[in-house]
Amino acid sequence: MQIKFLDFEREYGLLNQELNSKILSVINKGSFILGEELSRFESSFASYCGVKYAVGVNSGTDALHLALVSLGIKAQDEVIVPAFTYIATAMAVSYTGARPVFCDINEQDYNINLNDLKKKITSKTKAIIPVHLYGQPAAMPEILKIAREYNLKVIEDSAQAHGAEIYCSDGFKMAGSFSDLGCFSFYPTKNLGCYGDGGMVVTESEDLYNRLLKLRDYGRESKYSHIMLGYNSRLDNIQAAILLVKLKYLDSWNDKRRELAGYYNKALGGISGLRLPLANKNVKHVYHVYVVRAEKRKELIDYLSSNGVPSIIHYPIPCHLQKAYLDAVNKPGLAPVSEKISEEVLSLPLNPFLKTEELDYIISKIKDFY
Ligand SMILES: Cc1ncc(COP(=O)(O)O)c(C=O)c1O
Repeated sequence: MQIKFLDFEREYGLLNQELNSKILSVINKGSFILGEELSRFESSFASYCGVKYAVGVNSGTDALHLALVSLGIKAQDEVIVPAFTYIATAMAVSYTGARPVFCDINEQDYNINLNDLKKKITSKTKAIIPVHLYGQPAAMPEILKIAREYNLKVIEDSAQAHGAEIYCSDGFKMAGSFSDLGCFSFYPTKNLGCYGDGGMVVTESEDLYNRLLKLRDYGRESKYSHIMLGYNSRLDNIQAAILLVKLKYLDSWNDKRRELAGYYNKALGGISGLRLPLANKNVKHVYHVYVVRAEKRKELIDYLSSNGVPSIIHYPIPCHLQKAYLDAVNKPGLAPVSEKISEEVLSLPLNPFLKTEELDYIISKIKDFY
C-alpha cells in the first residue's frame, strides 16, 4: 500500500465544485488584491478566533515579521523564541534587526519552557513568541503572567494551531487570541491551508490593527500617500476565497485529526521504543502533525519508507544550531531538551482524509518493525 503524508487530491475531490466556482468568481470580477473576499475572510477568521480584528498577509512568516514591526521591535532588542520550532519564528525576529534569544522547551509537550524563559529575560528583552507547536497550545495564561511581570509584549505563533483551544478563566479560548497579536500561516500543508502562500495577524487592538493595515500595503494611507515604511504583503483574493470555503470545514477536520490521533495512541501504546504524543489537560490539541519519539529513528524511517509509508522529521536541527544562527552564544548545550528531542521526533502520516485501513496498515508496519 502507498500512503500519502497529506492528501490534497482527496480534499480537492470533496471541495472542487465549491472551490472552482469561488475562484472563477474572483477571476470574472477581475478584483485580485484587497477586495471583497479578503475582507469577508478577515472578518470570518477574526470571529472564528474570537477577536475583533484580522489582517491578511502574504505568509505566516510575514505575519510574524509585521506583528513585530507593529510593536516597534527593532535593532538591539531581544525577542525570546523557542529553540525548537520552524526556523521562520526566529528569522522573523532577525528581519527586524532584533536578536532572537533561544529558549528551551518542555520534554512533555515540546512547548516553551517557563523556567528557561524567565532565565532568558534581560533588560533588552521586548517580547516573547510562544509557538503552539504541532497544534498543542503553549501555556498562555502562565506566559502572559510572566510577560506582565516584566512588561513584555507577546506574539503567539499559531502557524500550526488553527482552531486549537485552551481552557482558562473565561472558558475555552482560541490559540492566537490570548496575546497582543496572534499569527497564522495558511501554507498549503497547514490545518487551514490555501493554494499558495498566505498568512494572518489577529488582534484585539484597534491601534495595532490600523498599523498592520498600513504595514502590509506600503505604508499606504490613500492611493499615492505613504506615511510610513511598509511592505507588499497582502493575502490575495483568490487565496481568501479558497480559505473562506475551507474555514467551514476546519472544526470537523480538527475533530477528525483528534480522532485519528486517538486511534494511533490506542494502537501504538505499549510498544517499547516509541513515545506517543501527550495532550495537556484543558487544551484542545489540533494535531497539525502526529509526532512520536522513536528509538532507532533512522531505521524506522527506512523501514516505513520501503513499505510505502512516508514520515517526516519536524525538526532535525534546533534553531540555535542552524548555521544561520550558530555563534558564540548559540551553540550546543544552550537548549539541551530541544537538542535531544530533535534526534528522536518523527511525524507519522495524519490528515483528515486518511482511511482506517490506511491507518491500520501504518500501525501494522510500525509493530512489525519493533
Ligand atoms: C511554527 C511556524 N511558524 C511560522 C511558519 C511560517 O509560515 P509560512 O510558511 O506561511 O511563512 C511556519 C510554517 O511553516 C511554522 O510552522
